[in-house]
Amino acid sequence: MLSIYQKLTKIFENTLKESLEINQKNNLYNKLSLNLITQSSREDLGDYQSNICMILSKIYEKNPHQIAEEFISLIEKNKNIFKICSSLDIAGPGFINIKLSENILLEELIKNTKCPRNGISLVDKENKKIVIDFSSPNIAKEMHVGHLRSTIIGDSLARVFEIRGYEVIRLNHVGDWGTQFGMLITHLKDVYPEALESRANINIGDLVEFYKASKKRFDNEEEFQKKARAEVVRLQKGDPSSISAWRILCSESRKEFNSIYSTLNIQINERGESFYNPYLESVVKELELKNISVEDQGAKCVFLDGMSNKEGDKLPLIIQKKDGGFNYATTDLAALKYRFSEPPNGDGAGRIIYVTDQGQSNHFAGVFQVAKKAKWIPENCSVEHVPFGLVQGIDGKKLKTREGETIKLKDLLKESVKRAKKDLINRISEEQRTENDNFIANTSNVIGIGSVKYADLSQNRITNYQFSFDKMLAMNGNTAPYILYSLVRISGIKRKIKNARKEEINEKIYFNEDSEWNLIKKLLRFDEVIMSIEKDLMPNRLCNYLFELCQIFNRFYDQLPILKAEPKTMNSRMVLCTLTEKTLRLSLYLLGIETLERM
Ligand code: ARG
Repeated sequence: MLSIYQKLTKIFENTLKESLEINQKNNLYNKLSLNLITQSSREDLGDYQSNICMILSKIYEKNPHQIAEEFISLIEKNKNIFKICSSLDIAGPGFINIKLSENILLEELIKNTKCPRNGISLVDKENKKIVIDFSSPNIAKEMHVGHLRSTIIGDSLARVFEIRGYEVIRLNHVGDWGTQFGMLITHLKDVYPEALESRANINIGDLVEFYKASKKRFDNEEEFQKKARAEVVRLQKGDPSSISAWRILCSESRKEFNSIYSTLNIQINERGESFYNPYLESVVKELELKNISVEDQGAKCVFLDGMSNKEGDKLPLIIQKKDGGFNYATTDLAALKYRFSEPPNGDGAGRIIYVTDQGQSNHFAGVFQVAKKAKWIPENCSVEHVPFGLVQGIDGKKLKTREGETIKLKDLLKESVKRAKKDLINRISEEQRTENDNFIANTSNVIGIGSVKYADLSQNRITNYQFSFDKMLAMNGNTAPYILYSLVRISGIKRKIKNARKEEINEKIYFNEDSEWNLIKKLLRFDEVIMSIEKDLMPNRLCNYLFELCQIFNRFYDQLPILKAEPKTMNSRMVLCTLTEKTLRLSLYLLGIETLERM
C-alpha cells in the first residue's frame, strides 16, 4: 500500500530512469533519485515540487525549461499520473509544481481512516533487524539527565521502526564491567563487607556514596589502587566471590533503573558490557592479525585516519591497555561485531543505532572506523551514532538543584508530576468542576511525564536544551499539554456527536472550505514525516508536525460548525475529526506519550 508521496515518487523515478541516457544510467540515477520530490515552498502554487530538471539541465547542458517540458510529457505517458495530480506546471526556469487531485486526496483520506497505521507502509519482510543501543546507564552510579535523553529519544526511534514493521532489538548497554568494580568492591570489603553478601540491602544512594569514596581512595592511596586493580583482574577471570559481589551491586542498581523505566513506560533489554567479555580477547587478536592495530608504549591501539590532535598527530583508539586490561572501546568493538554477526552467535542486525550524548561522537567515529577496517560491517548494513546536546538549566548552565547538586532523575520526574497536578487543580477549580482523586492522579501523571518527554523530543536533538518546567507544562505552544488538549477537544466533539447521531464513514464525503482542505493535506503528510524520521533519526520532526496539525485542526474547528452543520457536512467534517484524532493518538504513541480522554 503506497502513500500519495510514494506513488508520486515512483512515477518520477521511473521517468527519470527513462530520460537518462543509457551510458549515464546507474551512477547518475542513484544520485539523482534521492529527494526527487519535496514539499512545495509555495503552497498556493502546488502541493509538491521537483527540481530534477534543473539538475538535469546542468548535466546535459540544455535549457531547463525545455527539459521540464520533455520530462512532463514523458511523465504524462503514465496514465496513473492523472489519478494523482490535477496539474503539473513548470515554474520559474524549470521547476515542476505538482498539484494533487481532489479525488486522490479523498481516496487516501478514507483509506487512512480505516488503516490502523494511518497509511504508514510496512517494510518488506526480508528487511534486517535494527539494534537500538540506548539509555545505557552505569552500575553503581546514578542515572543522569543525559541517560534520560537517551532513553526518551531511543524509545521513540524504536517505536517508529516498530510501526514500520522492522524487528527492533532494544539494548541497554549498561556499564557493568571495568575498573569501577575493582574500586568499589575493595572499598566495601574494608568499610562495609556485609554489603557484598546477599543478605544486606544497600540502596543506590548509598552505593553512589561508596563509589565516590572509593574513587577518592583510588586516586590518593597507592596501596588501595593496587588492591583495586587486582580485584578487577579477579573479577574478569571469573573468581566466584568477586562475581558474587559484582552481582549484588548490579542487582541493586538494576532495581533503581527499572523503577525509572517503569515510570517512563520504557521497554528495554539489559545486555551490559559484561556480556561481551568472552569476545574481547579475540577481537584484539583479530585486529592484530589483520595488521590494523599496533603497539604503542605498551598499549595496543589503532591510529585513526582523519582524526588528530592539535599537534596534527593521529589520535589512537586504545583497544588494550598496558596492563592487559580491555576498555570501553574494546567492548564496543566486540558488541558491534556480535550485533552484525548472524545468530546463534550474534543478532543478525542490518542497522545499529547508538543514542548517546555528543561528547561520545569521537569515540563512536573511532569505533566505526576500526570496525570498517576490520570488515565487521557487512555490505548493505550501517552503523549510526545519534548524538544529542546537553540538558541545561534556564540559566544556560548545567542542570543542578538549588543546592548545586546534580539532579536525580527520580526527583525530576516527581517534580514534573507535582507541578502538573498543581496546574490541574487550579484549572479544575477555575472551571468549577469536581473531579475525583483518581482522575487527578492519573491526569497529572500523564501530563507530568508526557511533558518531560515531549520537551526533550521536540528539540532538535543536536542542540543543547534548556530544561524549564514552566515552558514544558504550558497549555500553549509546542508542548505536550497543548497537543493532549487538542486531542481531548476532539474526543469531546465525538462524545457529543455520538449522542446526536451515529457517525458513519462512507464515500460520499465532500469538502468546500480551505480550512478543510488544509487539514486534509496536512493529515496525509503523516507518512512522509515518519519516513523522514526513519532516515534522519530526528523525532522533533514528528513534534513539529503534531504542533502544526493541531494548529490547523483548531483553526478548522474554530472556523466551521460541526455539530450544527447539516447532516452531510457534519458527516464529512466528522471524518476529518476522526482522522485527526487517530493521527494524534498514533503520533503520541510513537513519542511514548500516553493520552487522555479528558483533562
Ligand atoms: N554507559 C555509557 C555512558 O553512560 C553509555 C553507553 C552507550 N552505548 C555504547 N555502546 N557505548 O556514557
